[in-house]
This record gives sequence, structure tokens and C-alpha cells, in this order.
Amino acid sequence: MANSLSGRFLILTIIFVMLAEIFIFVPSIARFREDYLLARLERAQIASLALLATDGMIDDALEAELLENAGVLNVVLRRDEARQLILASNDIQPVSYSFDLRSPTGVELVRDALRRLLRQQDETIRVIGEPVREAGLLIEVTMRTAPLRAEMLDYGLRILVLSAMISIFTAALLFIAVQRLLVVPIKRLVFAMTSYADAPEDASRILEPRASVRELREAESTLQTLQTQLTASLRQRERLAQLGEAVAKISHDLRNILTTATLMADRLDTSTDPAVQRTTPKLVASLTRAVNLTEATLAFGRAEEPPPKLERFALSDLAEDVIENERLTDADALISYGCDVPNGMILRADPEQLHRVLSNLVRNARQAIAAHGVPGEISIQGRETEDGWCIRVADTGPGLPKKARDHLFKPFHGGARKGGSGLGLAIAAEIVRGHGGRLELVETGPDGTVFSLFLPSGVASLP
Ligand SMILES: Nc1ncnc2c1ncn2[C@@H]1O[C@H](COP(=O)(O)OP(=O)(O)O)[C@@H](O)[C@H]1O
Ligand SMILES: [Mg+2]
Repeated sequence: MANSLSGRFLILTIIFVMLAEIFIFVPSIARFREDYLLARLERAQIASLALLATDGMIDDALEAELLENAGVLNVVLRRDEARQLILASNDIQPVSYSFDLRSPTGVELVRDALRRLLRQQDETIRVIGEPVREAGLLIEVTMRTAPLRAEMLDYGLRILVLSAMISIFTAALLFIAVQRLLVVPIKRLVFAMTSYADAPEDASRILEPRASVRELREAESTLQTLQTQLTASLRQRERLAQLGEAVAKISHDLRNILTTATLMADRLDTSTDPAVQRTTPKLVASLTRAVNLTEATLAFGRAEEPPPKLERFALSDLAEDVIENERLTDADALISYGCDVPNGMILRADPEQLHRVLSNLVRNARQAIAAHGVPGEISIQGRETEDGWCIRVADTGPGLPKKARDHLFKPFHGGARKGGSGLGLAIAAEIVRGHGGRLELVETGPDGTVFSLFLPSGVASLP
């Protein structure tokens, strides 16, 4: 209770209201005493006026009654320095204190009132005042303090009871308000957090902002955004994990199948058919490449490309090989190929990976031209620059569709071809990046497309 938000509010409110009441209590009790004394002075004055009207001819019994009514022991009128005892009772006591009520300061009133509350013994005091403002006429009375103190105590007690009631009432109202405005929404928030933490993949557990207090609502919507993002990324991670597993399984079995296929192809070596003799080495080389790729994927165990194994080799051989492979696949002979690479241009790169890059680029171009149905041309150009090598793959095809341009080099997104996965360009770009180089789309349009890739010759400097 004392540790809960509403409990704290309850206790604090009671304390604060009580404190405020003390600040009210002290001046009002001083005020009460002042009023009490002034009332006595006034009544004494009225009594003395009545007496003066009869020229002092009253008997003792009447005098005692007048004094009793005024609540004083005796009354003295002072006019222009002359003191005149008007009324006097029989039991005259020595006066302990004198109070002048003509122009008291607030501090004096408070001090005297508190002193009176603290002094228990019944004393006789003298009070001087000017209840009716009349130049020169002062009135002076003596009285006992016991009745004054009793009335002050009674009054103070009433104030205390009242303030206690007010503070309890206010605190109770505040308790209910805090409970409804803060405690309930906070509990809801905490509950939503714990329930979400139990199953973050479950999108139905994401918090729906409902609090009416602005700050709480902000907290709720921030939490909602956070949960939505977390759930989405958890799902994505799950999908990627599944995909990775699928790739591993496929790579594993594909390797076995390809190994068998390589063994079969090796047997073709013995054939005497010249066409078979010409294609067999290509077939074996392709199959070997496929086996290597599946093995590398499995060994690396990730979707990313393994780091390149750099070697020196002639680009013209590799480019010719890529073109030769594509030409074999192109049954309609719709496309003519060109290879413009200086003889003896030696690259330093991973030949397997570069083969994949060029194959992907050339194959895309071939597929685009074939789908277009208009005869075309594909060429590979190689150039040595100051700090590396530049290879361009150009075609006269129909150009990249918009979807492919918008999602250039992004895996799975750019595929605009039926049966395509949208991975080819992404793989090519990643491999080139792995070499410290870059792959760029130089131009594309109805007249054709040019991709250019740059491989640095020196050690790639870190960005
Ligand atoms: N040379 C090109 N000419 C026209 N379109 C191309 C060319 N290269 C790529 N594209 C387009 O870009 C898309 C993405 O290519 P790619 O990443 O290799 O994925 P995929 O070939 O699996 O569809 C292709 O679907 C194709 O529409
Ligand atoms: Mg492709």
C-alpha cells in the first residue's frame, strides 16, 4: 500500500493538507482571540455608557450583573490622561499581563494567542482598546483568562476536526483519480509487456494504445512501434533461417547428384563422335564448377559469398569460355557474340567467382534478347586501367524493365523474368564487392544495356 503509487498519493495528500491547515490554523486562532477580546471591550463600553447615563447611581447587584454580562472584572475609562474607574467587581486580582489592542501587529497577535494556549493557569489580564473610535476615549478592562483559553481550545479543536475531514476527503478523491488515470493504465501496460515477452512472434499480443493521459499514450504507442518492429524482424529471421536450411539441404544433395553426373560425363570421353568430343570438356568443366559451388556454400554455411581466392589468369580465356557456354545454350542462333579483350591481359581475381559474374551478366542479356525475339549482339570488353581492370558487358536487347531498375542488385526483388529468382545481379554485385570492386549499370534503354565492373589491382583500402 505505502509502496504503491496511489498509496503514496493518499499519504502525501493527508500530510500536505494537514500542513496547509497549520498555516491556516495559527492566524485564525490569533484572530479568534483578538475578536474575543474586542467583543469584551465593546460590551464593557456599553455597560459603562449605561452607567454614565445614570450618573453612577446604581446598586451593587446591578453593577455585578453588568460586569458579569461583559465578562470582565472591572472597567476603567481613560479620557485625556485622566483615569476613571467606572465598574469594579469585588475579587480584584493582581494583573499578570497587559495587552494594548489599538494597533497590534500580526506577529504580536499570533505570539500572544499561542502563549495563551500554552499557559494553563487562570490569570488576570488587562486589555486596553478603543472599540468605538472616538478621539481621546480609551477603555481598559481586566478579565480572567480561563474562559478565553477554553473557547480558544474549543475553536482550535473544531478547526482540526474540520481539516482532518477535508484532508481525508481530498485524499480519497485523489486516490480514486490516481487509481483510474495512472495505476490502471500502468498495470495494463505492464501486463501487455509481460504477455508480449512470453511470445514475441505473436502479433496479436502487440499492445493497442488506449490510455487517455497523453504521456501514457505516448509510452503505449512507442511500445507498440517497438513490438511491431521486433515481431517483424523475428519473423524475417525465422524465414531466413528456414531459407538457409533449405539452401544447405539443396546444396548437399545437389553435390551428390552433380558428382554422379560428372562421372557419367567422364565416360563420354571415349566417344568417337566429334561433336561429343568437342562438348565433353565443357560439360565436365561446368559440372565441376557446380560441384565446387555447392561445396563452397556448404563449407561456408552462410548466404554470403565466401571471400575470393585470388589468382592470376588471362581474362580472354575466361571470357571466351563464358561466351562459348552461352552459345551452346542458344539454340536459335539469334545472337552474335563479341569478345574484345587484349591478348595477354592478366587479371588477379577469383576465376570461379568472376566466371559466375560474367555468366550471370551474359545470360541475362541472352535471355532478354531471346524473350524480345529480335536478333541482337552481346559483347564483353576488357580494359586495363591505372589502378585495376574494367570489364564491360554490353547487349543490344530491350533494356531493363522498371521493376529491375528500381530494385537493382537487391536479392529476390528485381526479378522481372518468368522463372527467374532475381538473384543473378545481386550475386554478381556481391562477388565484385568481395573483390573490393564495384558493379554498375552504365546505361539501359530500348537500344541495349551496358553493365561495367571494376576490379582494383592494389589491395583495396578500407572505406
Ligand atoms: N541485360 C539485360 N537486359 C534486360 N533486362 C535485364 C538485363 N539484365 C537483367 N535484366 C532484368 O533484370 C532482372 C533481374 O535479373 P537477375 O538479378 O539476374 O534475376 P533473374 O535473372 O533471376 O530474373 C531480370 O529478371 C531481367 O528482367
Ligand atoms: Mg539472371
